[in-house]
Amino acid sequence: MSAATLVVVLIASLIALHYTGHEALVSKTVSRLVHGKAGCFPIKDIKHVKLHYFAGRGRGEAMRLLMNDYNISYSEMGYTRETWPNAKQEGLKSGLYLFGQVILRYLGRSVGLDCECDELDYCNMIAAGIEDMGKQLSKIMYDPSFSVAMRDEYLKSTLPTWLGYFERLIPSQSTNSQKQSDYIIHGHLTWVDYLLVAALDANIEFGQFLLPGDSPDQAKTDVLKPFPKLAQYYNSMFNRPAVIDYLKSDKRYPFKLPYMPKK
Ligand SMILES: *[C@@H]1O[C@H](CO)[C@@H](O)[C@H](O)[C@H]1NC(C)=O
Repeated sequence: MSAATLVVVLIASLIALHYTGHEALVSKTVSRLVHGKAGCFPIKDIKHVKLHYFAGRGRGEAMRLLMNDYNISYSEMGYTRETWPNAKQEGLKSGLYLFGQVILRYLGRSVGLDCECDELDYCNMIAAGIEDMGKQLSKIMYDPSFSVAMRDEYLKSTLPTWLGYFERLIPSQSTNSQKQSDYIIHGHLTWVDYLLVAALDANIEFGQFLLPGDSPDQAKTDVLKPFPKLAQYYNSMFNRPAVIDYLKSDKRYPFKLPYMPKK
């Protein structure tokens, strides 16, 4: 076979692949062979991560969950309100800091938890939605005039609206296998799952947190009760052995509120 024929055959088979819809599958398989890990843009293993963040859960928690689950070695700077402004200035000047969920995705890429190329838009959309849900909680939690009434309104109306969106986005158990409803992106684990489970967990803790004047029953609040798929999703993510170890360890910061309301 001459080189020209070979090229024609190659092109013909690529076109065939394209029209049979197996193109994505083939490029996925090739990428996995080359990089040894799944996901659209895999990167090399990360040796050590230095987390420049507050000594609290906040937006660092999704990263900690992923790093513990995948045994990525990390240390924490553990900033306080006093030490953070200076550190942030330094980081911005040096251009060394990355902010937000881009770090989580980067960590995910290093352990084969990036989304596949044909899922990237969907992934980014879901991740942005999770961040939006998180903002609803931060908005009241970090408000210096945070009150019991604000908490109650949030739990009664804002949160269920948002959880309802995600309940519909979790693949359904009746149409998929049990396994598929364990992950938010098309039935396989990605960095987006850590973002979602950290957001769900913050809301669970917030719902159960006792404020002045609460009856002890408040501690039994289950914000996921009306959302069975989310509840099963949450339980399954928090049932991963390395995650359980982390949750029990003293590496995990307690849930705290920045402002306690007056009665
Ligand atoms: C985690 O990583 C450390 C060193 O990087 C290694 O010694 C340890 O065995 C690993 N643990 C697991 C559970 O893979």
